[in-house]
Amino acid sequence: MQEFLVKPLSNIAQVGLDKLEGTSCVLNESASEPDGVLVRSTKLSSEDLTDNLKAISRAGAGVNNIPVEECTEKGIVVFNTPGANANAVKELVLAGLMLSSRNIYASIDFVNDLTDKIEMSELEPYLESNKKQFKGNELSGSSLGVVGLGAIGSKVARMGVALDMEVIGFDPALSVEAAWKLPSQVKPATTLEELFRVSDYISIHIPALPTTEKIINKDLFKFSNNLSLLNFARHEVVNTQDVLNFIDKGNLRNFITDFPTPELIQRANEKKDVILLPHIGASTAQAEENCAVMAVNQLTEFLQTGNIVNSVNFPDVRLNRTTDYRISIINKNVPAMIGQIATELGELKLNIAEMTNVSKGDIAYNLIDIENEVSEESINKLKGIENVIDVRLIG
Ligand code: MLT
Repeated sequence: MQEFLVKPLSNIAQVGLDKLEGTSCVLNESASEPDGVLVRSTKLSSEDLTDNLKAISRAGAGVNNIPVEECTEKGIVVFNTPGANANAVKELVLAGLMLSSRNIYASIDFVNDLTDKIEMSELEPYLESNKKQFKGNELSGSSLGVVGLGAIGSKVARMGVALDMEVIGFDPALSVEAAWKLPSQVKPATTLEELFRVSDYISIHIPALPTTEKIINKDLFKFSNNLSLLNFARHEVVNTQDVLNFIDKGNLRNFITDFPTPELIQRANEKKDVILLPHIGASTAQAEENCAVMAVNQLTEFLQTGNIVNSVNFPDVRLNRTTDYRISIINKNVPAMIGQIATELGELKLNIAEMTNVSKGDIAYNLIDIENEVSEESINKLKGIENVIDVRLIG
């Protein structure tokens, strides 16, 4: 039986690693040529994309720590775990909304400073006469804009409805599946500008991509008035300097983020209108376990069967195994590849029992069950076809 080496490059919850038991995937922390890699937020570089590497499974949603484009060129499948930590992030957004609306952070600081008030008779009246400065607002009845209605954003939108907020969502790439999950009370905004005009609170839930870099910026802030902005997505999607400028102008009331930058830390030290957390949105026992289990299951399924689910750079593929000999072929998504592959298989006298071919962007992926024995020599012949990136015999 084929054996696959799986190397963890971050701390992965044990319950996930336990899922390797009983599979043909073996945990090996020092493997120099792993077949699969498990990673959380550790930043990977070209050096981590070793020759034998077939897949990287990210225990989390964001893949901005992985050189995905290079992986695609090399035929390395990158998985993530959409939804596995969505509840954890949603709950921290709730905390962010509360921090923002009720002056909780400044209130705690105020009380902690009262170490000189050692008598209750002095402390109590002092608190009562000073509490007016921390008067807040209720979330109920105010408007919540949600940017990005994927696994996390849709949960945040539903939470807003449950809090009796007026919820407006913006997601030009909303999937039918995600749309079905949204309550009817969530109103769609057709532009970000519209969302920024009408929202009291805005929570951002979009991935960091070249197309989303600093997409939340002064061109939107100018339409806001006293807005509370929450970023539990990635620091790259927000123009931080614009945030600070527009807090000073009054368009933004405050900024609560899980992604501090040096300039934000500077500001948070001076004023309470910036509240910073150290990227703990997904840091709950439950989320870490959910992500680890999902990441390991997806990786083992792929290494053992070639089936793909939840890849960011490859299409979803599932072919129920019908023979003892299965090959996977990764090729550039260019015309006439299926014909060339079928011709080569014919010349090698390999008979196809079942075959599927699916593409995503520049990449195409074939799973082929063969009726007769497939030799290493045949695999090498298939590798020689122009525009084929990799061929694997899945024993
Ligand atoms: C995510 O992208 O899902 C989170 O950033 C996960 C994490 O904290 O590792």
